[in-house]
Amino acid sequence: MATKEIEERVKWLRKEIEYHNYRYYVLDDPEISDAEYDTLMRELEELERRYPELRTPNSPTQRVGAPPLEEFGTVTHTIPMLSLANAMEEEEVIEFDKRIKRFLKTDEDIDYVAEPKLDGVAVELVYLKGEFVVGSTRGDGVTGEDITQNLRTIKTIPLHLIEREEPHPEKLEVRGEVYMEVEDFKELNKKRQQSGESLFANPRNAAAGSLRQLDPSITAQRPLKIFLYGIGEVRGREFESQWEVLQTLPKWGFRVNPLVRRCDDIRATIDYYKEINELREELPYEMDGVVIKVNSFELQNRLGEVSRSPRWALAYKFPAKEATTRIIDIKVQVGRTGALTPVAEMEPVRIGGVEVKRATLHNQDEIDKKDVRIGDTAVVQRAGDVIPEVVKVIKSKRSGAERKFTMPEKCPVCGAEVVRLPGEAIHRCVGISCPAQLKGRIRHFASKRAMDIDGLGVKLIDQLVDKGLVKNIADLYYLSEDDLIPLERMAEKSAENLLDALQRSKHPSLARFIYALGIRHVGEHISQVLAQRLKSLDKFYRVTEEELLEIPEIGPEVAQSVVRFFRERGNQEVIERLQKAGVQIAEPKRQGEEPLKGITFLFTGALEGMTRNEAKDLVEQLGGEVATSVGKRVDYVVVGKDPGSKYAKARELGLKIIDEGEFKRLIGLT
Ligand code: IVH
Repeated sequence: MATKEIEERVKWLRKEIEYHNYRYYVLDDPEISDAEYDTLMRELEELERRYPELRTPNSPTQRVGAPPLEEFGTVTHTIPMLSLANAMEEEEVIEFDKRIKRFLKTDEDIDYVAEPKLDGVAVELVYLKGEFVVGSTRGDGVTGEDITQNLRTIKTIPLHLIEREEPHPEKLEVRGEVYMEVEDFKELNKKRQQSGESLFANPRNAAAGSLRQLDPSITAQRPLKIFLYGIGEVRGREFESQWEVLQTLPKWGFRVNPLVRRCDDIRATIDYYKEINELREELPYEMDGVVIKVNSFELQNRLGEVSRSPRWALAYKFPAKEATTRIIDIKVQVGRTGALTPVAEMEPVRIGGVEVKRATLHNQDEIDKKDVRIGDTAVVQRAGDVIPEVVKVIKSKRSGAERKFTMPEKCPVCGAEVVRLPGEAIHRCVGISCPAQLKGRIRHFASKRAMDIDGLGVKLIDQLVDKGLVKNIADLYYLSEDDLIPLERMAEKSAENLLDALQRSKHPSLARFIYALGIRHVGEHISQVLAQRLKSLDKFYRVTEEELLEIPEIGPEVAQSVVRFFRERGNQEVIERLQKAGVQIAEPKRQGEEPLKGITFLFTGALEGMTRNEAKDLVEQLGGEVATSVGKRVDYVVVGKDPGSKYAKARELGLKIIDEGEFKRLIGLT
């Protein structure tokens, strides 16, 4: 049971952490170092672990996401969430102001508030006694979806209201826009492209898709942010104007867009619009316009609403960043990971002040879905500084001369086979020497867990490839001192060291070598599984997909990927050239087939390079045994990180104790 002091400490920690979250995420102005923050967080996590009765859903430790839901519940908004009337032209804005004056029967200038209109997802957050209790989407305006658990993971949403400057009201409903910054969106799509997942069309879709995850732990990994711009029902605090709301929300810990502005009359809102439009490209997020609101709540109430939109507000939209043009051709680009991206080459067209003549078509599925053909007239969109994309084609403009496009079967850069693995949307080149992928391939090949070639860093790889000294991974082993010394930042000594390192890397285990080849979906673990089963490099050339599928843990993606890789003639040649240079797989030391026969191991503590089960499998495959308790029959005690009591006992008994490295050497893994 937690004592009163512990309970107080937990409360204090939460308050502190919430405050520092606010400084860091909302104000962008942290007061303490990351390390100090981590210390607070760790202490809280530890206390919550030890005293489960103290856990609460609003603890800052819970931002990682609650367990997945079956489906979302619904939330009825106390006050409906209205939508906005739109204006595209200045005259419409002037007309909006005139209408308001007519309605209010006044000639006096109206006081407005102008705000950026972010393109994201509208949400409402409910706080009772300062605690975040429910969060929902706008839905149809009356009822939305209950996405409380997902919203809890967004760091810029306070879980408790701050009260340093002003006490929080009894009840507070706040409204705002959840969005994703353009850079974060690009990064997310890049990762999705690499793992063959479908891409989000724009930051708005990415934000919406992330918020609608039934598994909050997925939302927790998405870089979502929020700006608040309004209130719903509030009990225990009166507000007189929109401006007062925008000034007060930050005191309770909410993020309000710093670009909001009070405007004395309608002209000032139009100037504001122009200014923000100019700023548009520089801001990290996308906007689709500005929102103009009558400042006084008294006037807002008098104005009321028509057809679900308030008379007191207007969305003044920016010109769409879209244009129509003709697709002259579709070309294929090969990226650093071997991904083939179809790109439309178009008649040049200006969109949002920039000339565009290329637009991405993402992948074959997207082309098929949109039925894009060469010669089509297409709507092209430029969102933020994202690569322009083809939104749709205008079929009514077809002449009949349009041609369908299909992905090439051979890589346009290196001629190797192009493969689309099961479950992936992306076509990829399997060529190990494809110039588009070469630098990445070499980096992987040389990395610590692969061939471990010390001294072969990024800068050096760039030079070797750019100067044409290395055209594939095998070329590395044919480098001479004369090749290396003229390179930048290379002296005789470092050249010698690199050649030594290359020499030392020539006898990898089969698993390491397979991993080093960088075959798609074949990571370190799968390489080990494959190496244990197939046992020799030769077998990799002959193995069929069916045989591979019989191995536990091997699915169709891996099976197809391996078979296609080894079937590629160019890849076979590179491996042969590696062998000619002296790269030979080190056979595990074996006596007969069971080199560990009669030897018993015991594991304690966590291993770094493998799980306990993998280690056990390895030992057993080599004929050895694994004991679960300390005893005289144990030959080797393998000690990992944070060993348990078995370690002490083993020392008492004077058993032979080895670390993970020695273990690996013993079984011929390194
Ligand atoms: S006010 C009645 N202010 O635009 C007022 N909306 O149709 C309703 N939006 O998706 C909204 N930024 O989430 C308001 N500063 C802002 C806004 C904003 C973005 C979104 C809103 C909704 C749409 C309104």
